[in-house]
Amino acid sequence: MSLHLEHLNPEQLAAVTLEDEHALILAGAGSGKTRVLTTRIAWLIKSGRVTPGGVLAVTFTNKAAREMLTRLSAMLPVNPRGMWIGTFHGLCNRMLRAHHRDAGLPQTFQILDSQDQLGAVKRLVKALDVDEDRFSPREVQYFINAKKEEGLRARDVALTDETTRRFTDLYAAYDEQCQREGAVDFAELLLRSYELLARNEILREHYAARFRHILVDEFQDTNKLQYRWLKLLAGRQGAVFAVGDDDQSIYAFRGANVGNMADFERDFRVQKVIRLEQNYRSHGNILDAANALIANNRKRLGKNLWTAAGEGEPLRVFEAETDALEARWLVQEVQALVDDALYDPPVRKRTRPPRAARERRLEHKRRRGATKALRRRRPDDD
Ligand SMILES: Nc1ncnc2c1ncn2[C@@H]1O[C@H](COP(=O)(O)OP(=O)(O)O)[C@@H](O)[C@H]1O
Ligand SMILES: [Mg+2]
Repeated sequence: MSLHLEHLNPEQLAAVTLEDEHALILAGAGSGKTRVLTTRIAWLIKSGRVTPGGVLAVTFTNKAAREMLTRLSAMLPVNPRGMWIGTFHGLCNRMLRAHHRDAGLPQTFQILDSQDQLGAVKRLVKALDVDEDRFSPREVQYFINAKKEEGLRARDVALTDETTRRFTDLYAAYDEQCQREGAVDFAELLLRSYELLARNEILREHYAARFRHILVDEFQDTNKLQYRWLKLLAGRQGAVFAVGDDDQSIYAFRGANVGNMADFERDFRVQKVIRLEQNYRSHGNILDAANALIANNRKRLGKNLWTAAGEGEPLRVFEAETDALEARWLVQEVQALVDDALYDPPVRKRTRPPRAARERRLEHKRRRGATKALRRRRPDDD
């Protein structure tokens, strides 16, 4: 089993073989971020710098976590299944099951996906005879999750006005109901796990001593609470390896905080910043256009993508009047390319759709219960 370090470009190799120190790997799409992170884990273990139990690696989707495990299995003689590699939610779930008593939960606590959570809120709103026109279950749910993602319990919310006070009362009642029923929603997994570590010094010290290497993929998508959770786990000794693309943050509307990258550099006094700028997915014309666009992003840490793959086809710009027309045009184009055997889907369409379309789609997803099984999908990958 080989790590194939010879297949890495010089920047990738430098990132993979860093010693025990905090590092920020700034990289664009298709520049090998996930490959670097996975290879580094294997390199650390193979070279005896850390045992498999001393690694914690976190990603955003179950798909990414599975991919990481598969790639690791191919590089390591150990079964990575027992390792702490997973999504924030998955790892928090694991921690809460292991320490359920300290966390104040029954061992068999149930996880509510967002559909289940909405159902729980609806029951509560009915039971309390709340005016649903003024406080719709969906808004209540949104309020609760937003506060939890900020790390705030009902008692911590600043009661600036009457409406906030009513929402906050419902938040408190909802938490009581969940506690009674042994139910934990997604946001609660993280908040409860954070509180467990924050309050329980023995546990915190235990994990901080254990995890010598903490690796985070898609760091630009972490929210404030996730960042604080990572900080507790890193303690004074853990080396944090954060891989992210400040130009690709797409979760701002639900609390992702690109500012975490700058905070990380400052809070951890990061000395090593490595940029991965060689792209392996696209031709030059596409990258030039992307570079020109992202140059307008505010608050960026800066990088410039390039490729060895040649210029490729010139770009065409098509401006559609509506999102539906845009989708239809795209399908026709793909169909034509497939017919000419020039193209092998899948297509990657990255867009920030108009607000109404985005909400419709999220709504549709909620109905389908698409967040089942601790899955977090990127809203623009469908
Ligand atoms: N040094 C390299 N040489 C050749 N291909 C590479 C190299 N690094 C990455 N790739 C390829 O580029 C693609 C993107 O890699 P990935 O790790 O998924 O990138 P990211 O996480 O940055 O999007 C993959 O197909 C990967 O195999
Ligand atoms: Mg990746």
